[in-house]
Amino acid sequence: MDTAEIRRRFVAHFEADGHTVVPSASLLLDDPTLLFVNAGMVPFKPYFLGQERPPYPRAVSVQKCVRTLDIEEVGKTTRHGTFFQMCGNFSFGDYFKPGAIDLAWRLVTGSQESGGLGFDGDKIWVTVLEGDDEAIDLWHSVAGLPHQRIQRRGLLDNYWHMGVPGPGGPCSEIYVDRGPAFGPEGGPIVDEDRFLEIWNLVFMQLYQHPDGTRTELPAQNIDTGSGLERVAAVQQGKRSVFETDIFLPVLEAAAAAAGVDYFGTTATTEQAYAVRAMAEHCRAATLLIGDGVVPSNEGRGYVLRRVIRRAVYFARKIGVREPFTTRLADAAIDKLKGAYPHLEENRDFIRRALQAEEERFLRTITAGSARLEALLVLQKAARRLTRGTQGREHDQPVPGLECFDTTADGRQWLDTLGEDFADVDALKFDGGWLHGTSRGMGRVGAFRMVVPRRDRRWGLQCTSSRAGR
Ligand code: SER
Repeated sequence: MDTAEIRRRFVAHFEADGHTVVPSASLLLDDPTLLFVNAGMVPFKPYFLGQERPPYPRAVSVQKCVRTLDIEEVGKTTRHGTFFQMCGNFSFGDYFKPGAIDLAWRLVTGSQESGGLGFDGDKIWVTVLEGDDEAIDLWHSVAGLPHQRIQRRGLLDNYWHMGVPGPGGPCSEIYVDRGPAFGPEGGPIVDEDRFLEIWNLVFMQLYQHPDGTRTELPAQNIDTGSGLERVAAVQQGKRSVFETDIFLPVLEAAAAAAGVDYFGTTATTEQAYAVRAMAEHCRAATLLIGDGVVPSNEGRGYVLRRVIRRAVYFARKIGVREPFTTRLADAAIDKLKGAYPHLEENRDFIRRALQAEEERFLRTITAGSARLEALLVLQKAARRLTRGTQGREHDQPVPGLECFDTTADGRQWLDTLGEDFADVDALKFDGGWLHGTSRGMGRVGAFRMVVPRRDRRWGLQCTSSRAGR
C-alpha cells in the first residue's frame, strides 16, 4: 500500500465517523513557544486550552511537522527524521478513551478490503501509563488484546506533553512487531526497532504550567499522532522510512549524487549513513523553504541553515564535491506535490534558496579547507577522548596529535564543532596557533592548538586546549 493510500484511508476512516477534515497548517504557526509545528495537535492548541471555541467537535488531519531535537540521530538510525507527516484524530471534549481506542484499533486491524490498514492484530502491542488501569481494561475489552501485549511504562515514556508549557496527558502507544529479524523478544519495553511505534493516543486532560505543575484542562480531549512515514515502512515491509515509496526517490537521488550503490554490497556504513542524512535533510529543507523559511543566523533560519549544512557536511565526508541539493529537492517535490501543491508552485524559489546556501557554504569550506581539515582531525580526537572516558582506549594518543586538556566541556564542545559549520568562520590562525571560538548552539568556547604543516597536509599537534560556556 503506498503512502498516498495510507493517508487516504486514515482520513476516510475518521471522516466517516463525523470528523471534520482539516488541511495541514503551515510549519510556521504563530506560537511563541515553538519555532515550528512539531505535532499534529499544534494548530488545535487554542481549542484544547479553552481559549477558542472549536468550530467542530472532532477533526482529522495529516500535519507537516519538523522536529530537530534528535537531529544528531538522523541518518544513523532507520526511523529518525527532522521532517515527517503526522496523521491524527482529535476530539475537543467529545469522545475520550473508549472512543479513541476503538477507532484506532478498527483502522489498524480492519481488513484492507473494508478500508482498514490490515495489520495482523496478533502482532500489535501497546504501552500505557503505569496506573492507567482504565486504558488497560479498554485495550483488553475493546480490542481483545491479551494482557501480556499491554505493557506499562512510567511518565517519561507514557505521559505526553509539548516539552513547553501547554496541554498534555497520559498516552498509550501502539506498536507493530516486525519480527525476530529486527531484534529480541519482549515487546516495546525491550526493543523499539523490532517493535516499531506507529501511533500515539494522548488522553489530553491536563495543562502543564511553566513550573512543571499540572492542572485540569476545561475538558477531556483526544490528540493522536501516527507517523505516516513509519506506517508506510511497516506496511511496505521496509527496514527504514528512507526506503518507502514516499522517500525512495530522494534517497536514490542522494545515492546517485554520491556515487554510492546504496542497496548493493559495496556501500560502507559511513556512506549509507551520509546518503540517508543528505536525503532527509534536503527533503526537510525543501519543506521549510516551501513554507517561507530562508537560511539565516538566527531562529528558524538558523535551524534551516544547520539542516542544509549538515547535508553538505555529510556529503563532503564521503567525497561529494559537486552541488547536489537542488536535485534532491526536485525529487522531494515530485513526490510530495500531490499532497502539497504549493511545493510545485514554489519550486524555483526553493531551488534558488537551496543553491544559494549550498554555494555560500561551499565557498566557506573552500576558503577554509585547511581549517576544515583541522576541525575534522579535532573532531576525531574529541571522539577518541570521549571514548576514553568510557573505559576504552583510554589515554591512547592519536597519531600526530596530543591533547592535554580533557575537561568534559571541552570534549563535548569540540565534538559538536565539526558538524556545526556556523563556527568555521570563527577560527583564526595566529602565530602558529589555531584559535577558535564557537557561537553555534548557544555555546561559547575557545581553544588553541599548534598547527605544523607536513607533506602539504595539515597535521595537528594540540598542546593545549580549553573550552567553556
Ligand atoms: N501529540 C502526540 C504526539 O506528537 C500525539 O499526536 O506524539
